[in-house]
Amino acid sequence: MPTLSFNMNCVADFFTYETTKSVVVKSWTIGVINRAVQLLIISYFIGWVFLHEKAYQIRDTSIESSVVTKVKGFGKYSNRVMDTADYVTPPQGTSVFVIITKLIVTENQIQGFCPENQLKCKSDSDCQNPVSAAKGGGIPTGRCVKYNDTSRSCEIQGWCPAEVDNVNVPVMLEAENFTLFIKNSIRFPLFNFEKGNLLPNLTSEDIKTCRFNPTNQPFCPVLRLGDIVKFAGQDFAQLADTGGIIGIKIGWVCDLDYSWDLCVPSYSFNRLDSVSEKNKVSPGYNFRYAKYYKQENGTEFRTLMKAYGIRFDVLVYGNAGKFNIIPTLINTVAAFTSVGVGTVLCDIILLNFLKGADQYKAKKFEEVSETAFPPDTSCSSMYRSNQTLGGRCEEKQSTDSGAYSIGL
Ligand SMILES: *[C@@H]1O[C@H](CO)[C@@H](O)[C@H](O)[C@H]1NC(C)=O
Repeated sequence: MPTLSFNMNCVADFFTYETTKSVVVKSWTIGVINRAVQLLIISYFIGWVFLHEKAYQIRDTSIESSVVTKVKGFGKYSNRVMDTADYVTPPQGTSVFVIITKLIVTENQIQGFCPENQLKCKSDSDCQNPVSAAKGGGIPTGRCVKYNDTSRSCEIQGWCPAEVDNVNVPVMLEAENFTLFIKNSIRFPLFNFEKGNLLPNLTSEDIKTCRFNPTNQPFCPVLRLGDIVKFAGQDFAQLADTGGIIGIKIGWVCDLDYSWDLCVPSYSFNRLDSVSEKNKVSPGYNFRYAKYYKQENGTEFRTLMKAYGIRFDVLVYGNAGKFNIIPTLINTVAAFTSVGVGTVLCDIILLNFLKGADQYKAKKFEEVSETAFPPDTSCSSMYRSNQTLGGRCEEKQSTDSGAYSIGL
């Protein structure tokens, strides 16, 4: 055979179009199942994927945000009036700050040697135990010294006198009436969308008088601390006593297909350190800090404070969506493709469970035996590689993937 015509045959074989031969089954049962499955898939895509999950939108989840806080109010603590500079730490107005509600103060500490208050002892040997060393207020010297008229305790080197923190001190309950002003700006970089929690209809008079309330005043940026703690399901007096961490969450979930005004913040509150609520080992939140001074003669001394307080963490989260043609196209194609999934289910039912399944099988799978066709030598080597032994191309259609023949 001349090489040219051999090649022409191959080219002609290549430029063909294969289409699937369909078997129409006129059965009510399978027909109803088929349409029901298709309806189910279509309604899932329209109802859930498109309307609920908004698959036609492109979503920006990388919200940029800044938070400024300011606490106002006066409290009374150990014959002193406490103002913002006394009880808020750090003072910069960050999104995480502590309102100190209880203080254990140890004044005039200097570097030296003194008895520790927790490690009682009878002789020096009681103070040689290395396990107890970590407990005290300094480095143990290993000596047992006089603590007061009736008892002796282990000596330490460090800031003296050592702190006594197992005492009952009052709580600054006025903190319940303090107000917290939150200024939050956000931006969705993908859409260059900017907004803040001070909505345009808020007047300077409102800011002075309004108090946040989820039902009446959901957009007031001034919150009463007692309310925040109550919304988080906690008791203020108890929380102020042990200390704790409260989360103030500001959510910005926006559909930018609607107007700018409809993108508004939503506030929610909860206790973040629920672990300290549920165990007795470390029930709450406290920390120590000190103020340092110098005497005339140059010796340094300090006032040590163990502070209990409520820490507030302002957490901002959010995402925004806007119509975009690419996700719309991708999801529409996915929806149409998925309608075809119904045929798999229908085929299983048709070929296995329906009355007359054998007849349907016979119609669906045509058997072609090898001997039915004479050897065809015009077949190209490309096709031959797909064929059974002997290099015969008994049927062109058999080059199809043949997924259904598994059922035979
Ligand atoms: C908070 O303010 C209210 C009303 O002004 C007052 O009745 C209440 O005693 C205050 N609470 C505390 C703990 O001072």
